[in-house]
Amino acid sequence: MIVVSKPLLDVLSGTRRMPPPVWMMRQAGRYLAEYRAVRAKAGSFLGLCFNPELAAEVTLQPIRRFGFDAAILFSDILVIPHALGRSVRFVEGEGPRLDPLTSASAIDSVRGDYDPQVLAPVYETVRQVKAQLPDGVALIGFCGAPWTVATYMIAGRGTPDQGPAKAAFADDPAAFARLIDKLVDASADYLCGQIEAGAECLQIFDSWAGSLSPEDFVRWSIAPTQKLVAKVRARHPQARIIGFPRGAGQGIPRYARETGVDAVSLETEIDRDFARREIQTLVPVQGNLDPLVLRAGGDALDRAVDEVLAAFAQQPFVFNLGHGILPDTPVAHVERMLARVRGA
Ligand code: CP3
Repeated sequence: MIVVSKPLLDVLSGTRRMPPPVWMMRQAGRYLAEYRAVRAKAGSFLGLCFNPELAAEVTLQPIRRFGFDAAILFSDILVIPHALGRSVRFVEGEGPRLDPLTSASAIDSVRGDYDPQVLAPVYETVRQVKAQLPDGVALIGFCGAPWTVATYMIAGRGTPDQGPAKAAFADDPAAFARLIDKLVDASADYLCGQIEAGAECLQIFDSWAGSLSPEDFVRWSIAPTQKLVAKVRARHPQARIIGFPRGAGQGIPRYARETGVDAVSLETEIDRDFARREIQTLVPVQGNLDPLVLRAGGDALDRAVDEVLAAFAQQPFVFNLGHGILPDTPVAHVERMLARVRGA
């Protein structure tokens, strides 16, 4: 049997690869016509997340089209609130909607455990993708970080400043901490289920980490993520984990030291000299091309790709965006980015 090494897993183990492995956050999504076709067939968005055949198909679409070095499971961070009994809907053109949690007693009414059968279709998706994955391509599982998932549960929707969740922890930190603990437990179980089905590494998306003050970032992002990582490693000591505390900037070195993640994904806005000196000396990094520049394309895109490579490619590095690809990004720009990263 020939064992093919996987560039993404090599980098997460601390080995530099040139060209660097590359994938994109939200690589399965509306910028692809083939995704929109499956999405229309699936009906609701959660219906797509819980349909293993269709979810496996959309996970593999960007691999077939672009040959990325990693496939990311098609699912959503909000399947955890769904499993915990909160009704989750996706409104066309608007985003997710849940029933908001408007008091400490409402927060405490959230269940602490769930029927494992609810998430079984996601594990089946992982198995089906794994069986069809080309050699050398790694399969990434994921969840939302407790803080980011809590912001959607409390507000019942995405918010510009995460105000409702911040008000909730200011009003009753103990009740908020009990919700965070339930999310740590459910998310750890969910990540372990993904590994047991065949995921080879995991990413924890803390998309709203940047709205927390430095003290609150330690309490509501670093500490719960550290618990989550420890719980996953208790069952799977070898689990490779990427953390994405988006917008945490100066707080990221401490996040890298204390959470125990193997690598961190960097937002577009971070100072790259700071990141190279203070973060990439601790752990491999991933990122951080501006999704707006990818959408714009042209010479500006070439220059931006070169800047990212110049900053990070001398050390273990995964090329990615600083946040998810925008739905109106031309496919040709993705091809141009890939050719440049791979030196074609
Ligand atoms: O390709 C991939 O990256 C894998 C699948 C994936 C999705 N969501 C599919 C999706 C992943 C990793 C996510 C993560 C996710 N979901 C995050 C963290 C990353 C980030 O973007 O900050 C968050 C905050 C969510 C919650 C969520 N899901 C929102 C706010 C929205 C609406 C915004 C939007 O883009 O429409 C979603 C919907 C969603 N999740 C879509 C996709 C492809 C688009 C919905 C559709 O196809 O109708």
